Amino acid sequence: MLVFTISTCLALIHYATATTNVTSRTAPVGAKVLTVGVIGDYGWTGWVPSPDNFCFDVLPTLKAANITVPNEIINDCDPGDKQYITNATALQMDTAAYVGQICAMKNCSAFISVGDNFYDSGVDFSTAGILRFQAAWADMYTQGVFKYAPWYQCLGNHDIVPGQPGVDFQTKVAPLYDDRWYFGTEQLPYYTYDLIGADWTATFVVLDSDCFLSNYQKSTSVYKNSYTEACHNTTQTQVSFLNTTFANSNATWKFLQLHHPYASASENNTELAPLVSIVAKHQGIVMNGHDHCLGHFSLNNTNFILSGAAGYPQAGDCNNGTAQGPFALYLGANNLTAANGFVTLDISKEMLNFEWYARDMKFEGMDLYPVECDLKPSYTFQITQNSI
Ligand SMILES: *[C@@H]1O[C@H](CO)[C@@H](O)[C@H](O)[C@H]1NC(C)=O
Ligand SMILES: *[C@@H]1O[C@H](CO)[C@@H](O)[C@H](O)[C@H]1NC(C)=O
Ligand SMILES: *[C@@H]1O[C@H](CO)[C@@H](O)[C@H](O)[C@H]1NC(C)=O
Ligand SMILES: *[C@@H]1O[C@H](CO)[C@@H](O)[C@H](O)[C@H]1NC(C)=O
Ligand SMILES: *[C@@H]1O[C@H](CO)[C@@H](O)[C@H](O)[C@H]1NC(C)=O
Ligand SMILES: *[C@@H]1O[C@H](CO)[C@@H](O)[C@H](O)[C@H]1NC(C)=O
Ligand SMILES: *[C@@H]1O[C@H](CO)[C@@H](O)[C@H](O)[C@H]1NC(C)=O
Ligand SMILES: *[C@@H]1O[C@H](CO)[C@@H](O)[C@H](O)[C@H]1NC(C)=O
Ligand SMILES: *[C@@H]1O[C@H](CO)[C@@H](O)[C@H](O)[C@H]1NC(C)=O
Ligand SMILES: *[C@@H]1O[C@H](CO)[C@@H](O)[C@H](O)[C@H]1NC(C)=O
Ligand SMILES: *[C@@H]1O[C@H](CO)[C@@H](O)[C@H](O)[C@H]1NC(C)=O
Repeated sequence: MLVFTISTCLALIHYATATTNVTSRTAPVGAKVLTVGVIGDYGWTGWVPSPDNFCFDVLPTLKAANITVPNEIINDCDPGDKQYITNATALQMDTAAYVGQICAMKNCSAFISVGDNFYDSGVDFSTAGILRFQAAWADMYTQGVFKYAPWYQCLGNHDIVPGQPGVDFQTKVAPLYDDRWYFGTEQLPYYTYDLIGADWTATFVVLDSDCFLSNYQKSTSVYKNSYTEACHNTTQTQVSFLNTTFANSNATWKFLQLHHPYASASENNTELAPLVSIVAKHQGIVMNGHDHCLGHFSLNNTNFILSGAAGYPQAGDCNNGTAQGPFALYLGANNLTAANGFVTLDISKEMLNFEWYARDMKFEGMDLYPVECDLKPSYTFQITQNSI
């Protein structure tokens, strides 16, 4: 008995020590060339929309009776997203396999997420949230290179619908849940990390762009909650964080990683201008998602890498493939559909090599987006001018 008691006690102590020291995986240090995958707008699988009778009959009745309906529930009635879910799930799965295939070929060491990790209303610390975390991410990206590669995560508009509990799940719970999920060291919705090569360094600043959009502060917005209200009041904290981090970094390359576009083929979020000015001052690069397509834009002496196509691609987000001006250098879309896919980034001292991989979307006997050889990039771009 005594022996048993002692060993159980030791086992418990050992377990407690081990858990408090869990830290997320990070990318390997010291490579001459490090390849990472940039991926966004992917997390559809496992979402169960609200039924039509609730959305069309019950919801209006509740509203008329002045009953406060949680934003998550209103958002889960989004008519477009309800229509997409079946295809979106299949497209996320096919694209996950495609990203795995390209990344096996290219030896991706990490993934850089630009948000919208869980449609339609994020995840919180509930059984439903746990099931979604498993289905849309943990069990989705598991084979081959996905087995150990860290994901440097970022919040999108869908992720913040539950407010603080949703932010807490992704920043505090998820890193302990699965050590591939990286969300900084301070448990905040914004953070910085460095990727370090043999003879180069890259500084990344991850921000929550949801806080910057004034549209999200409207009383009718599903994105208005006490989290976004508070962080909208304090956007200067994130602006200063970017400014200070870039100023204190001697890195060869500096990146801003966030969800919303400053400029794109479908919307310009001018509220992000203070961030873009700082990036431009440091000759940095912006990586974003939100628009459900692949793209490359150049304006304000800054390159904008759009990788929002790992879930449900939408041609309209890339203006049906038609550039409205010389600032749009690549749009992964045609007049019928946008391509699924992602972007790889090969980082070295000499250059940043970006490759946009658009998937040949064979789907139920048809081809939604024909690409002759989708193991090759549809578009590439190199940057040789170092950040300062
Ligand atoms: C684990 O964490 C504890 C307390 O935070 C610290 O004292 C200890 O040194 C850590 N152990 C390791 C191996 O990092
Ligand atoms: C993949 O890249 C990592 C990081 O640079 C490196 O350590 C590893 O040897 C590479 N693997 C292969 C098969 O090239
Ligand atoms: C709901 O609130 C509005 C505005 O406060 C009021 O005009 C209306 O009478 C209320 N309706 C019910 C059913 O209480
Ligand atoms: C789903 O995919 C099929 C092609 O197999 C297409 O005909 C249909 O329009 C798609 N639906 C949506 C909502 O995208
Ligand atoms: C945000 O600022 C507004 C206007 O200054 C204020 O009314 C509101 O209470 C603030 N909200 C939070 C959550 O800080
Ligand atoms: C950024 O920092 C510099 C000093 O390093 C300061 O002059 C500038 O005002 C700051 N800009 C912002 C937007 O905080
Ligand atoms: C950055 O580089 C300069 C010049 O090489 C050096 O003086 C400074 O200490 C470096 N700063 C950091 C934070 O490494
Ligand atoms: C976004 O900005 C670009 C570049 O300034 C401009 O050409 C485009 O018309 C703008 N798009 C929208 C939707 O306002
Ligand atoms: C980018 O350029 C446009 C047009 O020249 C200008 O209106 C805008 O203020 C610039 N944005 C930033 C962040 O400098
Ligand atoms: C894209 O095409 C669709 C249908 O083909 C059309 O309804 C939509 O207006 C077009 N969007 C743009 C931005 O041209
Ligand atoms: C879409 O583009 C194809 C070829 O680029 C063209 O044949 C077709 O008529 C276009 N369809 C529409 C609806 O614009």
